[in-house]
Amino acid sequence: MSAQPRKILMTCALPYANGYIHIGHLVEYLQADFWNRFQNMRGHQCVFICADDTHGTPIMVKARELGITPEALIAKSFDEHTKDFKDFQIEFAHFGSTNSKENRELCEEFYKKMSAKGHIAKRPIDQLYCEHDGMFLPDRFVKGTCPKCGAKEQYGDSCDVCGATYSPAEMKDSHCSLCGTPPVKKASQHIFFKLNDFKNYLQEWLPAHTAPEVSKKMMEWFAEDLRDWDISRDEPYFGFAIPGEEKKFFYVWVDAPMGYVSTTKQWCANSDSSFEEFWKNNQSTEVYHFIGKDITYFHTLFWPALLKAADFRSPTQVFVHGHLMVNGEKMSKSKGTFIAARTYLNHLNPEFLRYYYATKLGGTIDDIDLNLEDFVSRVNSDLVGKITNLASRGAQMLKKKMDGVMSIPDTQGQKLITMAQNSSEEIAKHYEARDFTKVTHEIRALADEANRYFDEKAPWKTLESDPAATKQVLTTTLNVFRILSIYLKPVLPHYTAKVEKLFGEKPYLWSDIQKTLSNSRIADYEHLANRIEPDKITAMLEESRALNESMMKKTVAVKTPPQTSEKTAEIEFDDFMKIDLRIAVVIEAEEIKEADKLLRLKVDIGGETRQIIAGIKAAYSPEKLIGRQVLVCANLKPRKMKFGMSEGMVLAAGEGGSDLFVLSPDSGAKPGQRVK
Ligand code: MSP
Ligand code: ZN
Repeated sequence: MSAQPRKILMTCALPYANGYIHIGHLVEYLQADFWNRFQNMRGHQCVFICADDTHGTPIMVKARELGITPEALIAKSFDEHTKDFKDFQIEFAHFGSTNSKENRELCEEFYKKMSAKGHIAKRPIDQLYCEHDGMFLPDRFVKGTCPKCGAKEQYGDSCDVCGATYSPAEMKDSHCSLCGTPPVKKASQHIFFKLNDFKNYLQEWLPAHTAPEVSKKMMEWFAEDLRDWDISRDEPYFGFAIPGEEKKFFYVWVDAPMGYVSTTKQWCANSDSSFEEFWKNNQSTEVYHFIGKDITYFHTLFWPALLKAADFRSPTQVFVHGHLMVNGEKMSKSKGTFIAARTYLNHLNPEFLRYYYATKLGGTIDDIDLNLEDFVSRVNSDLVGKITNLASRGAQMLKKKMDGVMSIPDTQGQKLITMAQNSSEEIAKHYEARDFTKVTHEIRALADEANRYFDEKAPWKTLESDPAATKQVLTTTLNVFRILSIYLKPVLPHYTAKVEKLFGEKPYLWSDIQKTLSNSRIADYEHLANRIEPDKITAMLEESRALNESMMKKTVAVKTPPQTSEKTAEIEFDDFMKIDLRIAVVIEAEEIKEADKLLRLKVDIGGETRQIIAGIKAAYSPEKLIGRQVLVCANLKPRKMKFGMSEGMVLAAGEGGSDLFVLSPDSGAKPGQRVK
């Protein structure tokens, strides 16, 4: 171990605030958490920060669909994300948000530097625009038929069926994914970052700051000049305004990586540390980004160039990992393998996934596979059967059949303990290299040795005839187990906390490996890990599939172009005339707090006021309705509902939930007029 503690800042990619954390994300957050915990156990100061990525069109649109403000949406995600991370035992020094004052100031500072140094260009460009929604459409918000394979309803940038990439202009029937309207071309002034100014710098920077397999791939970009990067977006956009411009906003990928810096700033303010030391000074600190391979471009070209332009230090290394597959395939919503972190937690112990991912993660860019059968068998046979078994057999015998006090190891046992201790630098090396596969492999190999020793000595046979020798065997076994659990602590922090309790010790540091316990009393044995029952997996997949299905329905309802109405049975003219439809005006509207879906409305139907309880809360905020003319069925029998009488019905189109459109007359209609 180096004598001087290192000062390390590390980050994970900031999760988007418009979605839930899923087991794919966890590939990243868990490996980073292992590494962070390892560094701190080694006595280094490692600061692990992250934040929610809160800006951009998808978040704005999602909030709109839900009928809430983007701020309310990102607040909700923040609560969910932080809770998911906590329950998966992922421990950040600070988890922030890109929608912060510090982040806004930083964006402005970066932009000023970039402009002052001449790295900014401005010119108009043509883009697709939806006249119905009044907004420019990012490629992902345009849908149409794939120009290569003819698959319908594909995104504007790539086809999910054949994998082709193209521009929305190549699709014949392109339409806005929100409302179905064909978009038009519209010109607007955009602001660009002249990335090519940094070509030489990046060409040198890349191989020194990424793994060879990553930089090799990225170096291909340098065959040609690097294109200007469009860093502005037009309103409406949820993001930071660009200083000195009208109605222009920073593209989310500008302020997102800045979240690394602004979140550090917040952490420093709360912990009396120097922000400059991490982000300006290259000498005494290290900075690492953990990211998935899909965002390598942003982190190894744009980001170091932005940092350079603004006179900030660049990261020491960008650690790139591969993607998660489940049972050898991409995660699938219909198969239920697109599993939310929360869904997993509803069924299984988070430390099982932590352990399994550790066995799979080798510190390379290769994809990793969560094979659910293998997952069950690894946990049951290795973690429970091999490792935990040492403790449960050793501790229970010592506690229940003897006096619960260890003695000293026998000679053979001492050799075994020394061997386990001597692996410490080897295992530390694997941790440092993020090769958790090798870490867990070494630990299992040691557990195998210990089990062999235990079985050979068969202490259960000598309990009566030679208690002293029996105790030595148990003492050895427990010592080896103790060492293995220290090795595992970065991966299984709660598990190891129980081991600390078992031996009555303070939280383990790496240096505690070299200690051997003798003559010490152990506490009652607390269960460390139970086997996975395979039906838990089935139940989890079932819940996951149901969740994804219900979410898909919601989005489909909003995103498909309007359908022609379904056929219903014919009625007589007289039947129609029985319905008393009236123009009404909403005079009061309020939320019913206790109900998810309901608003309480007072409407005037021409001199008469009616109370209507309407299930439109997800689609409309009350203020939006006050003063608005609506269509009301006025002769519906009053109904007594939980929250009062409802004396009529407001007409609306749509599927329900957030997909609802209240109908209104043309201007000029008067409250009380009959609709025919
Ligand atoms: N918001 C951006 C990152 C901005 S960083 C300045 C983003 N967010 S994300 O939520 O889509 O992904 C967050 C991280 O999780 C990324 O590093 C991404 O690669 C990783 N993963 C998301 N899905 C994944 C898998 N299925 N498998 C492995 N990692 C994955 O990108
Ligand atoms: Zn539209």
